[in-house]
Parts: sequence; C-alpha cells; structure tokens
Amino acid sequence: MKFTALAFVFTASSAWAFTPSATIGRTSTSLHKTIPKFDEVCETTGVTLTRFMSEVAMLNPEISELTTLFGAIDTSCKAIANLVKRSQLPSSSTLGLEGEVNIQGEDQKKLDVITNDLLKRALRFTGKLGVLASEEEDEPVDLAKNEGEKASLLVEETEKYVVVFDPLDGSSNVDAGIPTGTIIGIYEHDDNCAIDEVKPDVCLANTLQPGTSLVAAAYCLYSSSTFLVLTLGSGVFMFTLDENIGEFVLSKPNVKIPETSSIISFNEANIEKWDAPMKETVYNWRNGTGKSGKKFSSRYIGSMVGDVHRTLLYGGVFGYPGDTKNKNGKLRLLYEGAPMSFIMEQAGGLSTTGTERVMEIVPKQVHQRVPVIMGSKNDVQEVIDAYAAAGN
Ligand code: AHG
Ligand code: MN
Ligand code: MN
Repeated sequence: MKFTALAFVFTASSAWAFTPSATIGRTSTSLHKTIPKFDEVCETTGVTLTRFMSEVAMLNPEISELTTLFGAIDTSCKAIANLVKRSQLPSSSTLGLEGEVNIQGEDQKKLDVITNDLLKRALRFTGKLGVLASEEEDEPVDLAKNEGEKASLLVEETEKYVVVFDPLDGSSNVDAGIPTGTIIGIYEHDDNCAIDEVKPDVCLANTLQPGTSLVAAAYCLYSSSTFLVLTLGSGVFMFTLDENIGEFVLSKPNVKIPETSSIISFNEANIEKWDAPMKETVYNWRNGTGKSGKKFSSRYIGSMVGDVHRTLLYGGVFGYPGDTKNKNGKLRLLYEGAPMSFIMEQAGGLSTTGTERVMEIVPKQVHQRVPVIMGSKNDVQEVIDAYAAAGN
C-alpha cells in the first residue's frame, strides 16, 4: 500500500528527503526535530518502527539515544501484547489478582505487576535511563542506585532520560477481553544529576516535570490489532504490528484528529457530580443543542488508551472530569494525562482540565490525579468556553 496522501518519500536518490517545514520547534525546550519523509514504501515490509527510528536519529543526532529506548518499548509492547492475549487461556498463570494493593489503593492484577516488571527491566538495560516512575511503583526508581556498580557505569556513560509509564492501562477490563494499553512518557534527565554528584532527591524529582517538557510520548493498544502510536514532538505516527513479520509497521503517518465530531466518551454515570459547565456542555451535546447543533453519541470503553485511540481516529471528546467526590478525577497526570495530552495536541487536538492546559501543569507528586477533557479542537474549546463563561 502506498501513502499517497502524505507523499511519503523514499527513493534511491532521495532516501533522506525532508523539508524544512518538517522541523518543529517546541516552545518549552530547545529541541528541534526533523522527521523523515518517504516517497515510496516497500510493498512487503513497509516502514518498520526500527527503520523509522534510525532515520529519525540520522536526521536528529541530538536525540539518537531515543532509538535505543524505542527499541526497548517496541519489544516490551510486543511481549505485553502476547501476555495479554495468552492471559485468558486456562493454563495461564497471568490471570487474576496479585493479592497486593498499589500505592493508590487499587488491587493489582498479576498482569499489572508482570508488565511493570517487564517494562522496567527492558528500559533499565538500555543504559539510557536515570530514573523511572510507574503507576505500579510507590516511588520513582533510581535505576543507578538499584543496579549496583555495573548499572551505574552504564548510566554514567550515556545521556540519560526519565521515563514514566502506566504498564497496563485498563487492566480491570482484561479478563473480559476488552482492549488495554500501555502509556509511556519520556523526559530529558536534568544535567545536574550526574552520577558522580550524588543528589538522589534532585534526581528523583526529575520525574516531576510538566508535559511541556516531554521529549516523546507513546502508547501501545492491545486490541483487534496491536498498535504503537508515538510522538517525538513533530506530529503523531501510528504503527501496527504485522504478526507475520513480527514488526511494527507504519500504518498512519501524521495522524490528525478531526476538528469537530459528534462522539462523547465519558463515564456518564458520574454526570450529576461534575462541575456545572462540564455537565451543561454534555447535556447540550446529548440533546443536539451544543455549538454545532449535532446530537452526539456515546462511546465509552473504560480503557483510556482504547478510548483515546478511537477519539484520535474518529474524532470526539474523551474525558474524566473532576467531580464532587474526586476533585481531580481519576486519571494520573504524569503517566496518563500528560503523555496522552502530548499525543492529542500533536495530532491537532486539545487537552484541558476545563480551566488549564493539561500539558502545563507541574506535578507535585508522582501519582497526582488530574481532570482531563481531550479531543477534537472545536468541541474541547466548547468546554473551555463554558468554564470561562462560568467565571473559571
Ligand atoms: P488503570 O487500569 O491503569 O488503573 O486505568 C484505568 C482508567 C482508565 O483507563 C479509564 O479511562 C478509567 O480508569 C475508567 O474509569 P471508570 O471505570 O471509573 O470509568
Ligand atoms: Mn491507566
Ligand atoms: Mn494501569
């Protein structure tokens, strides 16, 4: 299949063809990234994630170490997809509860623990990481400290990144065969955290960076197909796992969310507890009395990755607003709200709490929650306007 719409360019004579317009500067950091463009795609294997990342690295030497991290993410997502798929076999030992409760008081499923461990190990042994934080870890993990001399050396030699992740999003759905996902955010590690200056507190606080400092974000969706969707701050790229060759293949370059829609994706059972502007906007959409005059439909899986993936492709608004019981909603800022907001914004959408851009919130705690309303630009703007009109 050829990507005619985006004129992906790859020919013998112009293997690295790219235009200056592909360079996108991020306002919050000095990063400027160029992305490869391909003219023609090999009909059988397409552009694999590995090839995509090595071309990105050649065009952007300053982020070449990300290639190694994405290598680990690539393998981890394939391994998790396999675990999720096999978890329902009677012989599987990955089914059911672990018997532990995580720091947030939620029951941990065996798969939460296994996938957390899997990702942690895969990322640790890239040698590119200083610190990581996960939904399933009580505190950020200082990899150098935990790994002894050998690991310290590995970390010392390289540039370091901070990775935050939700290893298995929607895990409560897994036993019913409902889609789940993995969410990953990558920040640059603070230069002040050289291993020879032992500043553990500063280094661990590196995980508390706002979404605007993200260098990359990605999610994997385990569903009818396995998808890996990423942004490096220069648009959104969707890869689909081709199980015949065991590779993620670029299936949608430059994903753009429709600007307007008629789909809402909320746990509407909570509607009476939401803030008035949120409640009224959703009532209007349901009744066809909103700005577009369209009558909206509801689509809600209850797995953020699945709901956001559909929202990116079909348009719509996904949200988990604050309510009278949980002022900040349910979703976690660091490893759910911020990385998914980065992807959403890079696809041309918006992400807000109602009053603030999610990407600009500086986390104070690793497991901090945040109200999130994200999706099609015009519809999310309607929510922001409703909050503003109510004096928020
Ligand atoms: P997790 O499984 O990582 O704890 O996340 C579950 C989240 C998210 O995926 C989803 O959007 C939300 O919980 C659904 O919550 P409700 O069941 O309250 O609708
Ligand atoms: Mn989650
Ligand atoms: Mn989870």
